[in-house]
Amino acid sequence: MKLNKDIIIAIDGHASCGKSTLAKQLANTLNYTYIDTGAMYRAVTLYALRRGLISDHVHTQELINDLNKIHIEFRYNAQLQKAETYLNGENVEDEIRGMEVSRWVSPIAEIAEVRSHLVRLQQAMGKNKRIVMDGRDIGTVVFPDAELKIFLTASAEERARRRYLELKGKGQDVDFDEILKNVQERDRIDSSRDVSPLKPADDAIIIDNTNLGIEEQFALVIAILAVRFGNGIDCLTKD
Ligand code: CDP
Repeated sequence: MKLNKDIIIAIDGHASCGKSTLAKQLANTLNYTYIDTGAMYRAVTLYALRRGLISDHVHTQELINDLNKIHIEFRYNAQLQKAETYLNGENVEDEIRGMEVSRWVSPIAEIAEVRSHLVRLQQAMGKNKRIVMDGRDIGTVVFPDAELKIFLTASAEERARRRYLELKGKGQDVDFDEILKNVQERDRIDSSRDVSPLKPADDAIIIDNTNLGIEEQFALVIAILAVRFGNGIDCLTKD
């Protein structure tokens, strides 16, 4: 699909509502780069866990002092056809998705210095546009001028069900109630924090996908793109 100009697509929304699935589909179709900002907050969390900077609480000042020692990058894995997250040169793609990181990521993402550090990196990644970025504050803070902003949501039970199936499919030993509690707790912290709380940008298109399949949702967003940035139906043909 070819648009009539290069754009930034911002996808925000609640935990586990399929942001990354939609973002990857769009990046693939448009030949854009997909950037998973949640993975960046997760990588910082993994760093803090490994360094003993989290006990029963986060040792905030020590983590802030270490921010310049945390190098995060995405490297494309041609075999798996996806980008993977690297923390200081190590592939941590699987480890950052586990429950221990999920438990601590929202408290880490509340720290203003962590946010401004990562937001700067994210803005640099989008300086030439042609990106699809997902997270919580992309349309509100990282790219307030993004040409297309989507805000995804779904019921907490449906989101927990999807995450449960995903982790189980990866062979992890998971408990549905624990996942549901984690999803609800992350939503609560993400939406109520002082810095960049999760909320739809005024100009975001809100999609509740509780009863919408992956392909239906994708078709809906493609139609929006075609109307807004396409030259009629012509843009739907691949170049
Ligand atoms: O995939 P899922 O929705 O479960 O979460 P994620 O996108 O991997 O993000 C993990 C956590 O990082 C979120 O619950 C937020 O607390 C935080 N986050 C954030 O604060 N800002 C972002 N731009 C992205 C993630």
